[in-house]
Amino acid sequence: MKRYATIAGTGSYLPETILTNSDLEKMVDTSDEWIRQRTGIVERRIADDDVATSDLSVHASRLAIKNAHIDPIDIEMILVATVTPDTVFPSTACYVQQGIGAKNASAMDISAACAGFLYGLDLANGLIISGQYNTILVVGGEVFNKIVDWKDRNTCVLFGDGAGAAIVQATEEPKGIIASYIGSDGDYADINLLGIPAGGSRMPVTSEAIDNNLNKIQMNGREVFKLGVRLMPEAAQRVLRKADVSVDDIDLLIPHQANLRIIEAVGDRLGVPREKVYVNVDKYGNTSAATVIIALDEAIRQGRAKPGDLVLLVTFGAGLTWGSTLLRL
Ligand code: ACO
Repeated sequence: MKRYATIAGTGSYLPETILTNSDLEKMVDTSDEWIRQRTGIVERRIADDDVATSDLSVHASRLAIKNAHIDPIDIEMILVATVTPDTVFPSTACYVQQGIGAKNASAMDISAACAGFLYGLDLANGLIISGQYNTILVVGGEVFNKIVDWKDRNTCVLFGDGAGAAIVQATEEPKGIIASYIGSDGDYADINLLGIPAGGSRMPVTSEAIDNNLNKIQMNGREVFKLGVRLMPEAAQRVLRKADVSVDDIDLLIPHQANLRIIEAVGDRLGVPREKVYVNVDKYGNTSAATVIIALDEAIRQGRAKPGDLVLLVTFGAGLTWGSTLLRL
């Protein structure tokens, strides 16, 4: 029998503290009007100082486990997509394993920036349809507030904290991941385009690096914007071709939630009407690897994504990395 990888349950968790655009007006030279017009963001969630990515991820994972009606010991692998790991090592996935009591799992992190969750889904799909695994937990989780320079108005208004999780399970029913595609282009592995220079083996964190904010996000927003608007439609079209599915058949498009203008441009280029494009960037900002899974979980809970629906997820991020997944729920 042919095997498929289906989304058996999802969960998401956002910290309670809300940071509004008006709050940011008191921190940097910006305005609510500028942020809304250029990004569509109204507010974002901020984790407390003592909260790490695994804490948010454990909350989200517990909900996904509950919604999938499984026991944590059924999980055979944990993949956590994040660029804000609790520690360089052990992996955040190992902390999540401890937090949810998934004693039978192997665990590792995926570093693919904002595309990380779809990298995880792609891997889970391959491992499940090959017959090697039956149940994999895929998480996208970030605590961006710890890597943002709160004095840099170019970046600090854009990001937020949060986590989402999915239980991916083997099934013989033709549903779940219909087609998946991930890609990257290391020619854009440019720390000034998008990245954090200090904290790795190239440039350890020194007091000089801290003085120059090199342990915080650097970004050329205009260039990233142009790349996102080009790469996401290309990635989405690739999975549609792979699955031989027309864009008209899509019930819901969930693009990476970085900026409302990018989201709308991606929908327009693909020819997806606005009412079929999911948006929550206004509430949470860019939660990097977590955006698409938080959005999918919300859409399912709101009834915007129902059993049988065709949902198209598409992301891009630093690396550059990108990915797209077509799901039949
Ligand atoms: N408030 C007020 N003014 C600001 C702010 C702010 N928060 N930030 C920048 N400006 C100013 C700039 O200094 C600039 O002023 P200048 O003309 O005097 O130099 C002016 O606003 C316009 O700046 P632009 O960069 O041209 O503005 P743009 O319309 O491109 O919007 C933005 C900037 C929102 C960053 C946009 O380029 C964007 O969203 N880019 C994509 C970012 C993104 O998707 N990042 C995802 C990263 S994914 C990952 O892997 C983590």
